[in-house]
Formats: sequence, C-alpha cells, structure tokens
Amino acid sequence: MRLVLEDIVKNFDSKKVLRKSSFTFEKGKIYGLLGRNGAGKTTLFNCINGDIDYDNGKIILEEDGQENKIIGTSKVGYVFSSPVLPEFLTGYEFLKFYIDINKDKIKDLRTIDEYLDIIKINKDDRHRLIKGYSHGMKNKMQMVCFLITRPPVILLDEPLTSFDVVVALEIKTLLKEIKSEHIIIFSTHILQLATDLCDEIVVLNNGVLDKIDNEILKSPEFEGKIIDILREENDHESLA
Ligand SMILES: Nc1ncnc2c1ncn2[C@@H]1O[C@H](COP(=O)(O)OP(=O)(O)OP(=O)(O)O)[C@@H](O)[C@H]1O
Ligand SMILES: [Mg+2]
Repeated sequence: MRLVLEDIVKNFDSKKVLRKSSFTFEKGKIYGLLGRNGAGKTTLFNCINGDIDYDNGKIILEEDGQENKIIGTSKVGYVFSSPVLPEFLTGYEFLKFYIDINKDKIKDLRTIDEYLDIIKINKDDRHRLIKGYSHGMKNKMQMVCFLITRPPVILLDEPLTSFDVVVALEIKTLLKEIKSEHIIIFSTHILQLATDLCDEIVVLNNGVLDKIDNEILKSPEFEGKIIDILREENDHESLA
C-alpha cells in the first residue's frame, strides 16, 4: 500500500501554501512531518483527508493493486491538534455512537471498556461528559477512533504534545505495534520525538516535501542540520 501525492498545489487567495508537493508514503512506516509554523502541515493533512479542496495535483491511495482517489474518512484517520469531539456526550457514549456508525468497517470489535482500557481513561471518567476532559484525554479519545476502525492512513497533527510522559510512551508503543498495517504520518515540532518514533523524516518547506537523508537522521548533529535546513530555505524565501 502506498499513498502517493503528486504535485499538490494549494493556495489561499494569493498565499501560496503547497507548491507542487510530491511524496510517496509507504505502508509499515511512521513518517515524521517537520516544518515551521505556517509551513502548511495542517493544510496538507486537510487535503489528504478531503476536508479542503486542493487547486491542482493528485492524491492517490494504491491498495491491493487498485488506485483510489482518497475521499475522506473511510480511508483516513485524522487526529487533529485541537480535538474535535461532541462535548455533550460522555466518553463511553461517544464510543458507543462511533462504533455504531462505523460497524460495517470494524474488524475484530472489542467492548467499549476494552478500548477505554487501552487508552487508559479511568473508570470514573468514562461516564462523565467529554466537555470536562483535559486536552490530553480528548486527544486520546480521538486516537481511540482509529484503533477501532483501523483506517489504512493515519494522520496525527501534533498529537503527542499534550500527553504526559507516561501516556506519550504508551502511545508511541502503540503506534509502533500497529504500524506494519498502516501508513502513519505525524507532524511535530519536537525533534526528539521525530527521531525516536519515526522511520523517516519529511520536511515541508516553501511548499514542497523533501525526505531527510537517513544518514542525517542518525547523526549526532541531526538537530542542528534540521534547523539549518528550515532556516536557510526560509531566509532564502524572505529575500526573494
Ligand atoms: N482557511 C484558511 N484561509 C486562509 N489561509 C489559511 C487557511 N488555513 C491555513 N491558512 C494559511 O496557510 C498557511 C499554512 O497554515 P498551516 O496551518 O497549514 O501551517 P502549519 O504548518 O500547520 O503550522 P503550525 O506548525 O503552526 O501548526 C498559513 O500561512 C496559514 O495562515
Ligand atoms: Mg498545524
């Protein structure tokens, strides 16, 4: 399975965000997406998820010898940086609802409590309204959605920043456990996390995607080199 982006162009009026971004993401790998604030990471995820239209280019999911133009939620699990959840439901009610509307897609269904056990939402909190959940708890609720439906492509927009160290470690372990079946892309500003967790690092800079050489990834000067790459190209841009 491969997710192929071909020359994606996205402008917001005169603001050019994605300028012919191309990249091929493969199953079994976790990709770290790095880029400066405003580089277009969230915009790219929104395009892949089908939330916004892009102006030009192609996004294709090659699966079992077939090429699908990805359309939204059936193929993509998306964990937003600011969780979007129905706050008037309890965590338990939300999962019940989520399972109900997705039941045709779910293989290997477990009980609601088992899912809540995986993401370690306390028994007391399960029947409280999501409105009162912390940011990290809401993020975990979003994350459990893709553990239930297991979409082929999983996008995580800066998801681990709100987790405490214990939960972050658990989520990292979980992502590593499931990665063989998925294409996982997550954006982050935490370089350490990117090197810890990711098989490949992709940089979004000046509207294009570039893979960082694995040699750089393993070198002790990794952090400095990444900062140079991001700084140089942006400085070049501001002078242009
Ligand atoms: N709906 C929109 N309308 C107009 N401009 C937008 C819209 N969404 C994003 N942009 C602009 O597109 C650019 C890329 O934004 P985006 O949110 O994708 O960046 P990002 O890489 O996710 O940044 P961050 O690291 O801060 O999350 C920014 O200049 C932003 O202002
Ligand atoms: Mg963003």
